Amino acid sequence: MNANPAPDEFEPFDVRALLAQRGKEAFALHERYLNPQMPRVLRTIGFDADYVRAEGAYLFDRDGRRYLDFLSGFGVFALGRCHPGIEQALRDAIDCALPNLVQMECAPLSGLLAEALVGRMPNDAYRCFFTSSGAESVETVIKYARCATRRSRILFADHAFHGLTMGALSLNGAREFRDRFGTFLPGCQSVPFGNLDALQRELEAGDVAAFVVEPIQGKGVFVAPEGYLRAAADLCHRHGALLAIDEVQTGLGRTGTFFAFEQSDVEPDLVTVAKALSGGYVPVGAVIAKSEVVERVFDKMDRAVVHSSTFGQNVLAMTAGLATLHTLDAESIVERASTIGAALLSGLEGLKKRHELVHEVRGRGLMIGIEFSRPRSMRLRAQWTLLESMRTGLFTQMVIVPLFRDHGILTQVAGDHQNVLKILPPLITTEEQAEQFVDALDDVLGDLERSLGLLFGVGRSLALPAIRAGR
Ligand SMILES: Cc1ncc(COP(=O)(O)O)c(C=O)c1O
Repeated sequence: MNANPAPDEFEPFDVRALLAQRGKEAFALHERYLNPQMPRVLRTIGFDADYVRAEGAYLFDRDGRRYLDFLSGFGVFALGRCHPGIEQALRDAIDCALPNLVQMECAPLSGLLAEALVGRMPNDAYRCFFTSSGAESVETVIKYARCATRRSRILFADHAFHGLTMGALSLNGAREFRDRFGTFLPGCQSVPFGNLDALQRELEAGDVAAFVVEPIQGKGVFVAPEGYLRAAADLCHRHGALLAIDEVQTGLGRTGTFFAFEQSDVEPDLVTVAKALSGGYVPVGAVIAKSEVVERVFDKMDRAVVHSSTFGQNVLAMTAGLATLHTLDAESIVERASTIGAALLSGLEGLKKRHELVHEVRGRGLMIGIEFSRPRSMRLRAQWTLLESMRTGLFTQMVIVPLFRDHGILTQVAGDHQNVLKILPPLITTEEQAEQFVDALDDVLGDLERSLGLLFGVGRSLALPAIRAGR
């Protein structure tokens, strides 16, 4: 038998020793071998912590300082970090020595994860395709929609974010991501988010394959108006187009229901997920599409592999997905997100009454945006105007910096040129952690109101390296 080497017959790779020896070189390594702007940005805004450990809602640096992670890896860590249940499942899968990625096979775990995801849809007339990222799920949606309808145009909403691969970028509603990367996929057209008349005008041409839309836009945290998704679905269907709902960020309980679309009484034709399905460990995404769409793509045997992805159904990804769904149910995570999210929203509404800079608090579940705007009082208004003349959105950067530096809470700006602070706390966030955030923001806003003028110099240094990473 051609066996693997016995434990004493191979040289182990010791990740602990490597990190102990070279972990401190991380920023220098990134400067030299990766994107050199990232370490510069992180240093400038004081986000250059040396994280060495993570657990639940917390990150820990080399000095043992604890940070409350209200960014969650852009929404990956719904279950918190290093969840023991996910780790155990992955170790078990490795111990089973399963036949991974045989490719010419039908493996049980992908079948089971597909069954579990379809089981969360409004009815069972759906099928799954597995990917390794959110963007790849969106690419799949574009291909499926074009193939199933034999039409080429794809509509998307302004401000939309669907990922940064070429097809997904063609559906991106933000100039800062598109600049210098054109020419885009032909036939992709934006419509104003929430505007049904504009959507109808585009659909009437009769050449639209799909309208791709987020139920809550990640960039800026804009919630779809009441009734919008339902009416959009009706319009799409009336004009022979498909409705694709991108739940890469909103899915798996983030907004207080398993899918955000459940709050809109709508039956989407295609749904994308990724991020949280990974359990925070193994990249995994999926497209859940109406069976009739899938059957039109794979309509005969010689088309069995017209769309596929080498790593899509890998055993660790499928295990992470199944273990994540199991844990969501076992720990009532979706219900917790709904309860804690409501408490957090109401705590933040309280801040709106106390701080004139807070214009609006919006979101669902644990996807929340806090928008700042020009204050009413003369003194603050003049300072605000001066600050914003340097760069729109600068004020929010001046909020996230002390939140991190003084309160150890990691948050983000919701998008370039927007004054929206965005939080994506892990769905396991406790009431105490939610209160800690509200108190910290209260404190930071109070300080800023007292010293906005003095902070002019700080603002100038932040104006250059805008934090564009926000999702
Ligand atoms: C709604 C939405 N779709 C797609 C993506 C792209 O996902 P990924 O970064 O995994 O490619 C994102 C990422 O933030 C997203 O928020």
